[in-house]
Amino acid sequence: MMVCKSSLLVVAAVLRASAAQNTSAFDLNALYGPGLSPGAEIIYSSDSAYAAAITPRWNLYDVPTYYGAIKPATEADVQHIVKVSVQHNISFLATGRGHGSTSTLGTLKNGIDIDLGNFRSVSVDNGMLTAGGAVNFSQLFEPVNNAGKMLPLGNSRCVGLVGATMGGTVGVLQGVLGLGVDYLESVRLVTATGDLIEASKTKNADLFWGIRGAGHNFGIITSATFRLHDLVNDGKLTSMDLMYPGSANKTIYEALQGYDNNIPNALTLNVIAAYNATSGEGYMVVNVVWFGPEADFAKEIQPFLAAGPIANNTKTVQWTNWWTVANFGGYSSPTAPDCVDGQFFNAYALDIKKTDPAAMTKVYGDIVAFARANPGFSGFFGINRYPETVTLQVPNCETAYGYRDTKALVTIQSSYHPNATLNDAANKLFRNARSEIQATSGFDHLAVYVNFGHGDEGPAVWYSPEKLENLMRLKRKWDPQERFSFYQPVPLHYPGPAGY
Ligand SMILES: Cc1cc2nc3c(=O)[nH]c(=O)nc-3n(C[C@H](O)[C@H](O)[C@H](O)COP(=O)(O)OP(=O)(O)OC[C@H]3O[C@@H](n4cnc5c(N)ncnc54)[C@H](O)[C@@H]3O)c2cc1C
Ligand SMILES: *[C@@H]1O[C@H](CO)[C@@H](O)[C@H](O)[C@H]1NC(C)=O
Ligand SMILES: *[C@@H]1O[C@H](CO)[C@@H](O)[C@H](O)[C@H]1NC(C)=O
Ligand SMILES: *[C@@H]1O[C@H](CO)[C@@H](O)[C@H](O)[C@H]1NC(C)=O
Ligand SMILES: *[C@@H]1O[C@H](CO)[C@@H](O)[C@H](O)[C@H]1NC(C)=O
Ligand SMILES: *[C@@H]1O[C@H](CO)[C@@H](O)[C@H](O)[C@H]1NC(C)=O
Ligand SMILES: *[C@@H]1O[C@H](CO)[C@@H](O)[C@H](O)[C@H]1NC(C)=O
Ligand SMILES: *[C@@H]1O[C@H](CO)[C@@H](O)[C@H](O)[C@H]1NC(C)=O
Repeated sequence: MMVCKSSLLVVAAVLRASAAQNTSAFDLNALYGPGLSPGAEIIYSSDSAYAAAITPRWNLYDVPTYYGAIKPATEADVQHIVKVSVQHNISFLATGRGHGSTSTLGTLKNGIDIDLGNFRSVSVDNGMLTAGGAVNFSQLFEPVNNAGKMLPLGNSRCVGLVGATMGGTVGVLQGVLGLGVDYLESVRLVTATGDLIEASKTKNADLFWGIRGAGHNFGIITSATFRLHDLVNDGKLTSMDLMYPGSANKTIYEALQGYDNNIPNALTLNVIAAYNATSGEGYMVVNVVWFGPEADFAKEIQPFLAAGPIANNTKTVQWTNWWTVANFGGYSSPTAPDCVDGQFFNAYALDIKKTDPAAMTKVYGDIVAFARANPGFSGFFGINRYPETVTLQVPNCETAYGYRDTKALVTIQSSYHPNATLNDAANKLFRNARSEIQATSGFDHLAVYVNFGHGDEGPAVWYSPEKLENLMRLKRKWDPQERFSFYQPVPLHYPGPAGY
């Protein structure tokens, strides 16, 4: 039984400096070649074939830099690459689907990209799913649904399953099924010593606790096994988009507030407030997802209907097809921003337990004013209200996941050409917005879902003060040289009272 340590009042943190690097040139083939299987590939970043050979990054903001990539073909290859890297003190990082987006990734300089692109197998058998370390969500739709099962996936089909799971996996299925990570049964993982081990509730259970919420810190997962859930509502969901002018924002936030303490598990509310550069006005899209009888839908969302949408769109589809209809079908466009790699995004996020219409109206107004003043900037302010009841059925102590009692996730995301002046101004605006929402969030400290973190928050914020102490103990045991410390790193020790 895992016992939670009592909560510590930890508010901020100092991020550790970048780890191992060797700035002088070295021969990857000579170092790594002997011992790799014939299927493995070594590609220098200076090679013209590099870009086409590697898994691209979705976000170009704060990227790691690499001498080159190695694409292991077998688990033994992964072990070999880790061992050689550790022996020569070379930094390395695994790449799953490349959607990880945090400024801590930028602390990796001149390392080795362990591209898991060959680890994409999926098998569904007897109510269980086993998936390779780089499988994306879209690969799961058919095999899982065809088996008459469901699994709570993230909202973007292009994101890595394992990368998301290690942080928790939130999304529109969370209301009915809970967190994705709560379906994880076991993993096969290469540790910092290059050993290949299994972790589950019965094998290396301490590590398995840490992997479920802070998994990026402990090793490379070659495959993960999940228990699947039977179809809920025959696997059918109704998705409705409602569009409003920006001027309706206060009414919409008040409607959302009405669901803070009372929301059916079958209902999800996704509220996006954005800016239309053509018209120079704000607009809002509320996407509602309902896993229940269509006849009951309208009465559940009465406050949003009463707000007088200027456009709407309602579709009932299989759970795997939500992305084809939501946001007026926008997520299935070939240029849907969540699936196009190599863009420049700057994003901040936080968890909230309370909706405060005044704070939200203020923040949205500031973002629209900023967009008006800065052509070339586009951004949105989003709130995802995922019902928390099923998530809370798993005891908090069971996993390292930080914030089961979160009611909604707030995201402030922008894309613009990386111009230093604009960047500084946008960061200032966003940090200010984050603290304004935090002040009314119902959390007494900043709380951020680790996989949505900007990177400037620190470990107590990503993992919760309550979970951090045990995570640091696990870090000292499983990764004392901090090899796996480029993604929202758990430190070995508190930096001391000054750092917190
Ligand atoms: C457009 C978009 C939409 C998103 N939507 C959601 C959502 O709805 N719900 C949600 O929960 N999250 C969501 N996320 C966040 C997502 O969970 C994280 O970005 C996640 O880290 C992505 O994993 P990846 O494999 O794609 O990325 P990568 O950049 O490849 O990996 C991210 C981190 O995980 C590590 N990693 C990846 N695979 C492995 C592995 N097999 N073994 C060990 N370490 C590994 C990498 O080393 C890296 O540190 C979204 C992200 C984006 C960009
Ligand atoms: C490994 O690299 C790091 C960062 O460059 C350095 O601080 C450390 O001393 C190195 N360790 C060894 C054993 O060379
Ligand atoms: C670092 O550079 C030196 C000098 O070129 C080299 O001898 C050493 O092997 C390098 N380390 C690694 C890990 O390649
Ligand atoms: C998901 O993975 C499959 C199999 O590797 C690949 O063909 C597909 O392009 C990927 N899709 C996305 C959206 O990443
Ligand atoms: C949001 O609502 C407030 C209050 O009604 C209004 O003053 C403001 O202009 C609206 N914001 C936008 C961007 O339209
Ligand atoms: C943006 O404004 C233009 C011009 O008024 C309009 O044609 C377009 O439909 C608007 N787009 C959205 C998403 O509101
Ligand atoms: C949805 O739009 C249609 C017309 O496109 C309209 O008749 C209907 O009243 C709208 N529904 C709501 C809830 O606004
Ligand atoms: C950067 O963006 C700002 C604001 O949009 C603009 O005024 C400025 O000209 C841009 N600078 C460069 C170098 O592009």
